[in-house]
Amino acid sequence: MEITILGAGYVGLVSAACLADLGHHITCIDPNETRIAALRRGEIPIYEPGLDLIVARTTANGHLRFDTDPARALASAEVAFICVGTPPRPGDGEADLGFVFAAARDIARFARDQIIVVTKSTVPVGTGDMIEGLIRRMRPQLEFGVVSNPEFLKEGAAIADFMEPDRIVIGAQSAWAGNIVASIYAPLTQKGGATILRTRRRSAEAIKYAANAFLAIKLSFINEIADFCEAWDADIGDVATGIGLDRRIGTDFLQPGPGYGGSCFPKDLRALLHSARERAVGLRMVETASAVNDARKWAMARRIREAIAGDIAACRIAVMGLTFKAETDDMRESPALAVIAALQREGAQIRVHDPRGMEAARDLIEGVTFAEDPAACLRNADILVIATGWREYAALDPRAVAGLMRGRKVFDLRNILAPGAWRAAGFDLRRIGEAQPPVSIAFTADEPRRDHATLGSVARQSFRHPAPSVGETLVHRPAMKPAE
Ligand SMILES: NC(=O)c1ccc[n+]([C@@H]2O[C@H](COP(=O)([O-])OP(=O)(O)OC[C@H]3O[C@@H](n4cnc5c(N)ncnc54)[C@H](O)[C@@H]3O)[C@@H](O)[C@H]2O)c1
Repeated sequence: MEITILGAGYVGLVSAACLADLGHHITCIDPNETRIAALRRGEIPIYEPGLDLIVARTTANGHLRFDTDPARALASAEVAFICVGTPPRPGDGEADLGFVFAAARDIARFARDQIIVVTKSTVPVGTGDMIEGLIRRMRPQLEFGVVSNPEFLKEGAAIADFMEPDRIVIGAQSAWAGNIVASIYAPLTQKGGATILRTRRRSAEAIKYAANAFLAIKLSFINEIADFCEAWDADIGDVATGIGLDRRIGTDFLQPGPGYGGSCFPKDLRALLHSARERAVGLRMVETASAVNDARKWAMARRIREAIAGDIAACRIAVMGLTFKAETDDMRESPALAVIAALQREGAQIRVHDPRGMEAARDLIEGVTFAEDPAACLRNADILVIATGWREYAALDPRAVAGLMRGRKVFDLRNILAPGAWRAAGFDLRRIGEAQPPVSIAFTADEPRRDHATLGSVARQSFRHPAPSVGETLVHRPAMKPAE
């Protein structure tokens, strides 16, 4: 099928590449000329694992093209997917539909008869009706359909989510339009058995908001339970596993952290609440999840601040991880931004590192030192904060880190560091959802057991070794067997 995708961002680009890989003929358009020029050169403007390979394959076989000109791209399209941003309007949080309506106007101007307009952008309930009205006003004679097909992909796992979706939601007011959209996904439903759910258009729009609200509530819930575990000396890891094994609850989205961020949950909850207010509907659980999350980011900064005994201006803090989660370069609403801003306000000196987010971070964060690699970030730091759960940080060798840092305090806001090894290396490791541990007990098989207080200092001395040079690997190679 001939399909035009409007928007070459996280959703548009992934959708374009995957639909091209399913055998469709895709033109992906975006007014951002730099972005389209880069894509034409084979450069991927976002980091999404595996996307580069699919784009390379589908551009080489002629199934995927990039353009900036909507007239050219829409002239022969049978279907147009709107995948543009719907950012929150400052102040009231209402979804700004300016980009969506601009895309709809392009479709009205340039599309041929019988075009199916598919909204993949996350849009408030009723937006499909507005798009339909807009196109009808601009082209009264045009035959067209407007379908809602919300996208549920997760950045970092977007290709797998698109190609093996839990469900494909198609909300249409006519069987004709809905059937055409369903046929686009036929390779997935036939081969992989993906389930298609057909609904009315408004229900499809509501499903997307309800899904994100539910997931955000789950995250805020587990974060509050983590605080409860800290207060009562229970372990959030065990508690999350224990409740997640209940199939009614499920294990996903039960990892505690510094609060959710990203381009979807915060803005979608605000937009949902705005829509609810418009119809005087109370969504108190959604409101609370959102408030709990906002407060959490600052609570993380406060926790770090409280651990600094002396003059904060003399304290060097290494913040590792800036993106809102691992495996993406997306910085939108990242909790790391709030934590850094709060610590900066207190006067701390901050050095930051991220495997993929440095470029975007330079535009967003001022007054910090951007370290080229983990070693440069850690050197002479008093406190280490792990703000994003990158695998490379989980693999840091605590003994090598001990050789680099000046202090021994570590705030693991993602619970990715192996507590035994880090405490054995002399670190005062604070994790989420774990009561402040007793003085670390550290001994090896061939080392006699001693009392706790002595062991703390033994651990600090015996595992300290020369600092690796900048760029030298800091990857954890377990040499000693720490006692838990
Ligand atoms: N990012 C995600 O993980 C995700 C997941 C599911 C749904 N969504 C939703 O999908 C939508 C897009 O999100 P995103 O993260 O891809 O946004 P994005 O900001 O990464 O990309 C949007 C792109 O649209 C382009 N654009 C703007 N106006 C245009 C026009 N008239 N024609 C063509 N292109 C235009 C922009 O230049 C930009 O490149 C949002 O509504 C979002 O809520 C996002």
